[in-house]
Amino acid sequence: MKVFVTGATGFVGRSVAARLIEDGHDVRCLVRHEESDEAAYLRGLGAKLSMGDILDAGTFIHAVKGSQALIHLVGIIFERRGASFHEIHVHGTMNALAAAATNKVERFVYMSALGTGPEAKSVYHQTKWEAEAAVRSSNIPYTIFRPSTIFGAESELFQMLFGQVRRLPFVPVIGDGRYRMQPIAVGDVAACFSNCIDNGKAAGKTYELGGPEALSYNEVIDIICRVMGRRRRKLHSPVSLVKPVAWLSERMQGKPMLTTDQLTMLLNDNVCDITAMRAELRVEPVGLEAGLREMLHPE
Ligand SMILES: NC(=O)c1ccc[n+]([C@@H]2O[C@H](COP(=O)([O-])OP(=O)(O)OC[C@H]3O[C@@H](n4cnc5c(N)ncnc54)[C@H](OP(=O)(O)O)[C@@H]3O)[C@@H](O)[C@H]2O)c1
Repeated sequence: MKVFVTGATGFVGRSVAARLIEDGHDVRCLVRHEESDEAAYLRGLGAKLSMGDILDAGTFIHAVKGSQALIHLVGIIFERRGASFHEIHVHGTMNALAAAATNKVERFVYMSALGTGPEAKSVYHQTKWEAEAAVRSSNIPYTIFRPSTIFGAESELFQMLFGQVRRLPFVPVIGDGRYRMQPIAVGDVAACFSNCIDNGKAAGKTYELGGPEALSYNEVIDIICRVMGRRRRKLHSPVSLVKPVAWLSERMQGKPMLTTDQLTMLLNDNVCDITAMRAELRVEPVGLEAGLREMLHPE
């Protein structure tokens, strides 16, 4: 199929583009910076590139012409001047939907996030919910994915955790560390995208994506330490102490270490039922420990 991908230069997008090409699809990606290493990587895979910005539909609407599916991955985890959650998640998705409608795309696949819903507490999740509503109310056949935390060699979260385990005598943990997540490998997420675009069962569906096990943050740290062969104590810090740090970080740092929105998300369980993912998308996800071992110590 001819597939247009937004957000292909990102952590998840690079894997999605690679998997689509491996599965024989003809891939065109929306790219903001033609000379970037990520654009070069996509070119090297065999993808075609179109320059444009999701906030400016005029820059890419014609590039979608001829595409049968549009995979919309663009999303942000913290706000910047000129790129609020509302602008990127809601307006950006409406622009992508407009491009899909104009070009009569047969499947629109939207990358949402686990934890979204009408009662979501974080602005990140609230705006993902608004974007989902726009997708559902469009007349374009759609599939929506809501993944839990995604792991991979290029995940910023996991790179930070590897760095902490490598360099520090203890691993910092916010609060009691009992809040849970269901980490899924980026390759498994990419497989879900590739397996859904021409899958009739996936039309009009919203899938929660996760790995095979729900793990507390403490357990995730234990797994990382085991895989890296390091013994580390955990240093738990009270949430009440971390909150002002997050508040300051999002106001003072261009790329915040932690925001209050991220703190809200982290402290809420992020686990799901993956029965539909297994049955309809035919993806059997790898567990965190096996996935990290394969990543850090490939045979
Ligand atoms: N990573 C996770 O654990 C996780 C979990 C659940 C859901 N998600 C969702 O998955 C999606 C991808 O996440 P990720 O981790 O791959 O993020 P990422 O590495 O930060 O990638 C974000 C992508 O969006 C693009 N982008 C941002 N603003 C844009 C704009 N104005 N116009 C065009 N492109 C723009 C970036 O392009 P540039 O390269 O030009 O900056 C990049 O390709 C997001 O929607 C995220 O919310 C991620």
